[in-house]
Amino acid sequence: MREVEQMGYHSEFERSINEPEDFWREQAAQLDWIKPPSVIWEAKKNGHGEWFPDGVLNTSDVALDANLRAGRGDQKALIYDSPVTGQTRFLTYKELTHQVALFAGALQSRGIEKGDRVVIYMPMVPEAVIAMLGCARIGAVHSVVFGGFAAHELAVRVDDAKPKAIVTASCGIEVKKVIPYKPLVDRALEEAEHKPECCILLQRPQVQAEMTPGRDFDWEELLASASPADPVPLKSTDPLYILYTSGTTGKPKGVVRDNGGHAVALKYSMSLVYGAAPGDVYWAASDVGWVVGHSYIVYAPLFAGCTSILYEGKPVKTPDAGAFWRVCQDHKVNLLFTAPTAFRAVRKEDPEADQLKRYDVSSLRRIFLAGERLDPPTYDWLHEHTGLPIMDHWWQTETGWAICCNPVGIESLPAKPGSATMPTPGFNVKIVNHQGRPVPTGDQGQVVVKLPLPPGCLTTVWGDDARFCKTYLEPIPGYYSSGDGGYIDEEGYVFIMGRTDDVINVAGHRLSTGEMEEVVAAHPAVAECCVVGAHDELKGQIPIGLVLVKDGATISQDELEEELVEMVRDRIGAVACFRRAIVVERLPKTRSGKILRRVIRQIADGEEYSVPSTIDDPAILEEIDQHLKR
Ligand code: COA
Ligand code: AMP
Repeated sequence: MREVEQMGYHSEFERSINEPEDFWREQAAQLDWIKPPSVIWEAKKNGHGEWFPDGVLNTSDVALDANLRAGRGDQKALIYDSPVTGQTRFLTYKELTHQVALFAGALQSRGIEKGDRVVIYMPMVPEAVIAMLGCARIGAVHSVVFGGFAAHELAVRVDDAKPKAIVTASCGIEVKKVIPYKPLVDRALEEAEHKPECCILLQRPQVQAEMTPGRDFDWEELLASASPADPVPLKSTDPLYILYTSGTTGKPKGVVRDNGGHAVALKYSMSLVYGAAPGDVYWAASDVGWVVGHSYIVYAPLFAGCTSILYEGKPVKTPDAGAFWRVCQDHKVNLLFTAPTAFRAVRKEDPEADQLKRYDVSSLRRIFLAGERLDPPTYDWLHEHTGLPIMDHWWQTETGWAICCNPVGIESLPAKPGSATMPTPGFNVKIVNHQGRPVPTGDQGQVVVKLPLPPGCLTTVWGDDARFCKTYLEPIPGYYSSGDGGYIDEEGYVFIMGRTDDVINVAGHRLSTGEMEEVVAAHPAVAECCVVGAHDELKGQIPIGLVLVKDGATISQDELEEELVEMVRDRIGAVACFRRAIVVERLPKTRSGKILRRVIRQIADGEEYSVPSTIDDPAILEEIDQHLKR
């Protein structure tokens, strides 16, 4: 047992904050570097800086080749379980390394080099993982776009990342619905100003995509003629990937992750947060398009020598609410991680957990949840029926790993439903008011993290460092502003209560109401609008639009709603779940003209609200209430 394991959580945490360089030097020593770092931390500006700046490594080497060197070549690295196609496929570390090296060689054959960007728009197939690791192998910066986003969203990301190549598949499969991807890619590339030089496409048996000669290359053919590529030495601070996430405006932010800090932090997290050991079967039931997929389907389980599961299906309907338990049984899953919404869907269809009784899930040690608030009824249901420890942990795309967790790798703390437990070592979490002053214990405020952030967190916003500083570092100098509100109780447990900005969380998917407002406002009959996230039993939140029509517009409420729903689906994607748009006569505003979104949300949720003193006409609130009840 390592020394720290005997020390307990509190001393580990204190050490991470008081002696960060020694602390992270030890963690860095757990990795295979090409050149280990001699400098651990270099401060830059605004309390931000670089981790391991003179270290040299390759992320694909750490994830794959290092496991071959450790004698794990014949262990399963990836299990692809796809109820939507009826397929199960295994790749050992040896096989995955070979496929990744070949794909990396194929990229090189198309002229892609270190620093070039590659956009990946793929369903949950092993080739998505191979493409990500293939980019990492040659130092190309991948940017995965979630398959549920529409062509326009893809175009926005292509224009921002300016990729040399785009990697895609002929289709995705949503339960029984086959969704052709290539027409979406073609539309996005037509719309985007930036034109990638090539498109690499995986033809799936369900749909044969049309290819544009000279630009589009078939995955199989390209790999058949490729030579395997060796890992390219990279600086720790070289970018590994860009992952776009919703902010308060219509323009998504490209979160940039480095190579060295990312590998050190994720490897540490596998033992600390998840209690995982080499050989464990680890399943993050998410999508490679989200941060959970990046960190805990692709990278961390491989850094830790585990077997990772890639599941192309849903918690329900593929074929039933026993799907998760079936996967746990079939692949002897030890650690399961998903979003609470997945279990709310299971519970809705199988309230007594009868499906659970059909399967042997004795391999499961713990269930982890994140992505949105873990509501106590879901916590209780899971705990009661599985008898397992249920671990809530809080994190964000920006941080890439848990800011708060129950540090089971060193000490299992008693759980408190509704709390994501304690700050993870490295994250000095505080609660402050709008002026940045600490609030009394137990009071709600903004959740911030004292700088510097530990390794693994975002290094900047792609192409817009000013936005990075303005959004995260400048609001409260000396701290990272998380955008979440919450409180810390007298025992130090952290409770995250929700976003304090215009970001909403729909079925664990992070979306921007500001972006939806931009789409709704573009309708010719709309004079003004506002979109808020209202509480939803299953998805946590769903967007609702309030719309003011232009004078003289003759469109009916139903027609307008139908058109707006279609516009949001078309511009953002079905995943936004925008299904309600209500015509109102007026919108509640402050005297200075600011729409009172918070009060509208409270009304939509049926919560008590106080009438703000700044409101120009309090009677509007009653009208809104009536409209929402209809
Ligand atoms: N490609 C194309 N379309 C997609 C898609 C993808 N990868 N993912 C979702 N969509 C579509 C769905 O088909 C659906 O379309 P529809 O309106 O035509 O039916 C729409 O986007 C909404 O999808 P979703 O939010 O997933 O709702 P759902 O009703 O199909 O499923 C849950 C609800 C709770 C079962 C599902 O959201 C889920 O399993 N969530 C797990 C949590 C998760 O993965 N979180 C990610 C972060 S951890
Ligand atoms: P994403 O960047 O998509 O991972 O979404 C991050 C946001 O999800 C956070 O800012 C929180 O609002 C919310 N979130 C994630 N995990 C939790 C959790 N365990 N409890 C409460 N909210 C959470």
